[in-house]
Parts: sequence; C-alpha cells; structure tokens
Amino acid sequence: MRYQDCAGSLDTVRKILKVNHAGEFGAVNIYRAQILVSKFFRRRYVPMLQNFMADETRHLNIFWTEIQKRHGVRCKSYWLCGVGGWAMGAISALFGKAGMMACTWAVESVVVHHLKEQLIYLNQQRDCGVYDAVKFILEDEENHRDIGYAEGGGNIFYLPFRFMISAFTEIVIRLGMR
Ligand SMILES: [Fe+2]
Ligand SMILES: [Fe+2]
Repeated sequence: MRYQDCAGSLDTVRKILKVNHAGEFGAVNIYRAQILVSKFFRRRYVPMLQNFMADETRHLNIFWTEIQKRHGVRCKSYWLCGVGGWAMGAISALFGKAGMMACTWAVESVVVHHLKEQLIYLNQQRDCGVYDAVKFILEDEENHRDIGYAEGGGNIFYLPFRFMISAFTEIVIRLGMR
C-alpha cells in the first residue's frame, strides 16, 4: 500500500502514528496471551516472548509520545487491536511453538512491509521525528519476523493460519488509514 497525502481533519502523518500505535497495542497483547499460555504448557519459551513483549511495549510508548507531540489521537481500532491481538496470541499458543512463531512471522511480515512504505512517505515529508521512530522500530520488527521464521514459523501446516493472521493485520491497518 502506498502512503499519500489525504484530505480530512487528520493528516497522513498523524494517521500513520495512530495506526502504528494501535498495532503495537495489538502486538503487546499477542505476546501477553502467548506468555500466559506458555507459563502453563511451555515455560522454556517464556523468556523469548517476554523479550518480544518488552520491545513492543517500547514501540507503543514511542508512538504515543509522537502522537502527543503532534496533538494526535488514539485510533478507533485501538481496543479491537488489543482484543484481536490477544485472541490471535492465545490461539497461536495453543498450537505450540510453531503456531506462536507462525503468528509472529505473519504479523511482522505485514508490519515490515507497511513500515517500509511509511518511510518512503515520511522521507518525502521530511518529518525527521516520525521517520527516525519508524526506522528504529522497523529494525526490531525485522528481527522479530526473522526469529519467527527461523524458529519454525514457516511450517507448511500453518499456511492457512498465517494467511488469516496476515489478512486480519492488513485489514486493520487499511481501515485505520481511511
Ligand atoms: Fe512493535
Ligand atoms: Fe514486533
């Protein structure tokens, strides 16, 4: 999806910020649910998931700070992202490690694609603050995506599951940018 100027009360930069902020809340809740389930069934994955969640919490705070600086708003989809993320995290965790990693790989692949597109737009706008924030966070998300793949997220049996998660993520981002 190409990012471009839009008409309306909220400019594209503020829209990007609110969508990304809501997405990070979704990500925090994916890992929150996965940690909860893993504490019962797969304790050895808890430290890795806690590292992911710490990254997502940092991203959430960075975007919220940028929103406040620009008198932006919280996305209408904020709570939907939270509940949807928690549900995806819980369901994926019931499938075990490959399920959790398939979830991470699917979500982060979509997110990385969008962040890269956002950087092209933000570079044109010469908005250094938001550009730097997105660039910094992109590195973490690429790392999450690659770990998800390396740890078994590419398992062929999870193709339909990954497809559903990618579609949900894509739809939420596009709805938020409208
Ligand atoms: Fe994140
Ligand atoms: Fe992430």
